[in-house]
Amino acid sequence: MKVVLLNGSPRKEGNIFTALNEMKKVFDAQSIEAEIVEVGSKMLTGCHACGACGKLGKCVIDDGANEIIEKMKEADAIVLGSPVYYASVNGTFKGFLDRAFYVAGGELKFKVGASVVCCRRGGASATFDELNKYFFISNMIVAGSTYWNSVHGGAPGECVKDEEGLQTMRNLANSISYILKLKEKAEIQEPEVERGAFTNFIR
Ligand SMILES: Cc1cc2nc3c(=O)[nH]c(=O)nc-3n(C[C@H](O)[C@H](O)[C@H](O)COP(=O)(O)O)c2cc1C
Repeated sequence: MKVVLLNGSPRKEGNIFTALNEMKKVFDAQSIEAEIVEVGSKMLTGCHACGACGKLGKCVIDDGANEIIEKMKEADAIVLGSPVYYASVNGTFKGFLDRAFYVAGGELKFKVGASVVCCRRGGASATFDELNKYFFISNMIVAGSTYWNSVHGGAPGECVKDEEGLQTMRNLANSISYILKLKEKAEIQEPEVERGAFTNFIR
């Protein structure tokens, strides 16, 4: 079992890192492999809408995104962590997620997904909703916790003072690990996914 936790903040050891690391400690204690992967600190562009990924199975832009996308494909659970910027997902991270899910969304079905956000004051639940949309359109199983998964803080690491926020992170990690264990035990096949219909909303 492997969990990848994507840090969408440009601050490598900021509050999102602190929140993801709180989750990693839970996975470590249960011997579940967990890796925090830097995304927001990289120079990544957004989707160019060239459609080449449909044929290549990877993004044509060679800026490091494909390596992270491969980690997502190999993982059993994916955690998306973003700081709140103007009540929304960090721009670099959003650009990456558009590309990653366009390339690999079809291969992520029935993996476990969870979102984590951090803000100083406002915009957490709007950003949380944005991140979860990537999971729901990809037929993933979304894990919950004891609040909408957010921590609060401004300066790097300040969210350690947000006791309920960190508790929410620990409960979220335990939910993910429980779902992963249930899946491992399940003796049933994943359902077939029907494809083919692709009707634009133009009428
Ligand atoms: C460009 C920018 C926009 C921000 N917008 C918001 C916002 O809309 N609401 C808020 O509460 N905090 C906002 N913040 C503060 C960050 O969300 C906050 O500092 C958070 O701790 C950053 O997480 P990090 O330490 O993982 O980078 C903003 C920060 C930046 C740099």
